[in-house]
Amino acid sequence: MVEVLELSGSGEGPDAARAAGVLERGGLVLLPELPFALSEAERTFLDPAVLAPKTKNVSYDPGTGAVGGTSAQGKAREGLGRMMARYAAFATALLERLAPGYAQALQVRRTSLRPGAVDTRVLSPRKDDRRLHVDAFPASPVQGRRILRVFTNVNPHRQARVWNIGEDDFETLAERLGPAALKPRTLSPWLMERLRITRGRRTDYDAAMLALHDGIKLDDAYQAQAPRRRMAFPPGMSWVVYTDGALHAALEGQHALEQTFLMPVSAMEDEARSPLRILERRAGRALT
Ligand SMILES: [Fe+2]
Repeated sequence: MVEVLELSGSGEGPDAARAAGVLERGGLVLLPELPFALSEAERTFLDPAVLAPKTKNVSYDPGTGAVGGTSAQGKAREGLGRMMARYAAFATALLERLAPGYAQALQVRRTSLRPGAVDTRVLSPRKDDRRLHVDAFPASPVQGRRILRVFTNVNPHRQARVWNIGEDDFETLAERLGPAALKPRTLSPWLMERLRITRGRRTDYDAAMLALHDGIKLDDAYQAQAPRRRMAFPPGMSWVVYTDGALHAALEGQHALEQTFLMPVSAMEDEARSPLRILERRAGRALT
């Protein structure tokens, strides 16, 4: 069973001490009373017209302040960047309350605004996030670090964001990977970095996670039969999940903000539960 911990207010209180454990076991932490308030001017950024052609997300890099994926220029672009910087700070503060032990180790990565509806076009199964999957980044190797994400539904029309959460835990998912997916790779990671196909070296861990992501998404029988639970996240709700460990699919919804963090497994309360350590136990060797 997927664990779901619901916290009142902005996530203070005694139950918050359970949050890291729930997340590390593949569960979700929900904050139904933690909206991200937008100013009148910021509400205009919810219009999908803010997107650059052929993009799905406005992205913000908290490290450099760069805003991408948008057609907005000048003052509007600056305002968009400020809103997203504020969301990055909001998400960081939330994790500092929920998991103080993570605070020193969290690496703040991309902030994204998803103004459009969950894509209902026919996509290739590999790209279709309506199919159950665990996250793995083809172009940005994580090299064993966890992917921890904070989401907030900022829909102005009472529309919930709807996910399926798979009931299989990561240990069960990992059993899908045969020895071929876990065997050492030699030249190609170096070459992919040199050719700038990847930002940073793709480790054996990254390769195994991509194989798992694709294997799950392309398995029609598994997609049809996997035990799952449908969850709705109404406007004004924030939620937190390790998306590399928890099986999920985005089904419906429009207008979400999302903040990605990477974190070394050594900062977890129990790193033995990390995808890295689970896959390493299966491989019988280090994967980074
Ligand atoms: Fe995902």
